[in-house]
Amino acid sequence: MSYRAGRHFLQIPGPTNVPDRVLRAMSQPTIDHRGPEFQALGRELLDGVREVFGTTRPVVIFPASGTGAWEAALVNVLSPGDRVLMFETGHFATLWKQIAERMGLAVEWVPGDWRRGVDPAQVEAQLQEDRGHAVKAVCVVHNETSTGVASRIPLVRHAIDHARHPALFMVDTISSLGSIDYRHDEWGVDVTVGASQKGLMLPPGLSFNVVGEKALAAHGRAALPRAYWDWSAVLAANEKGFFPYTPATNLLYGLKEALAMLREEGLPRVFARHARHGEATRRAVRAWGLEIL
Ligand SMILES: Cc1ncc(COP(=O)(O)O)c(C=O)c1O
Repeated sequence: MSYRAGRHFLQIPGPTNVPDRVLRAMSQPTIDHRGPEFQALGRELLDGVREVFGTTRPVVIFPASGTGAWEAALVNVLSPGDRVLMFETGHFATLWKQIAERMGLAVEWVPGDWRRGVDPAQVEAQLQEDRGHAVKAVCVVHNETSTGVASRIPLVRHAIDHARHPALFMVDTISSLGSIDYRHDEWGVDVTVGASQKGLMLPPGLSFNVVGEKALAAHGRAALPRAYWDWSAVLAANEKGFFPYTPATNLLYGLKEALAMLREEGLPRVFARHARHGEATRRAVRAWGLEIL
């Protein structure tokens, strides 16, 4: 056995380092998830988490990694054989595409070079060609964790509207949530996918779907098989502050603390801090004579 002095400092894009305040909050004893104390926590969190997504819509919280929330987003609103439009912006967009294919969806894949975000003009052109409205969803990764390439979500929304296309708009915010400005409601997103282990400063294990109004309507018609991920069951239990199955109680303690920290700093200041560190990193990379994507 070797002894390592000091504290392990994680230097990867995510999971990120969990602040001590959050770690301490999670070390409290696990409580009965069917009791009144949990109910109060559930109600507080289900309401409070909306702010980071910029929404007043319901936020479904899964005890799962981000991949689960990807799958949930697809199976809750789509049917076998539905066409979805996806863009090769990097590693995670490629993984989401593979999940869609395994779910039996027909992916219209726009190839890319992993160096730039989604081109809104291409979105519009692609959707204008689809006169029969066979495409049921447009899926975009907001921030490609593998490269740091971000897509301009409001401009993609604008392109969908310009093409007068009714497809649902789904956005992966797994590494942008709590790091880059994001506004589910204002930007007209139908389903937002998020996860705990990056800007939310939590360990891996929680993930999220924001359920827009149009997405909820599509949910009623969607025929892909779903059980664990079924929004209806979660939303029904959430009305009283509970979950249909055992929630990740200690991660929820952590979420409560993380939300308090984000609120104390203020989201605009959080985003400014991330932007400053991003710019510092880019300047360092340029000074080393390396290329920026
Ligand atoms: C942008 C993005 N999407 C999806 C995922 C997949 O999430 P997970 O690894 O938590 O299943 C990640 C993970 O890093 C990610 O960064």
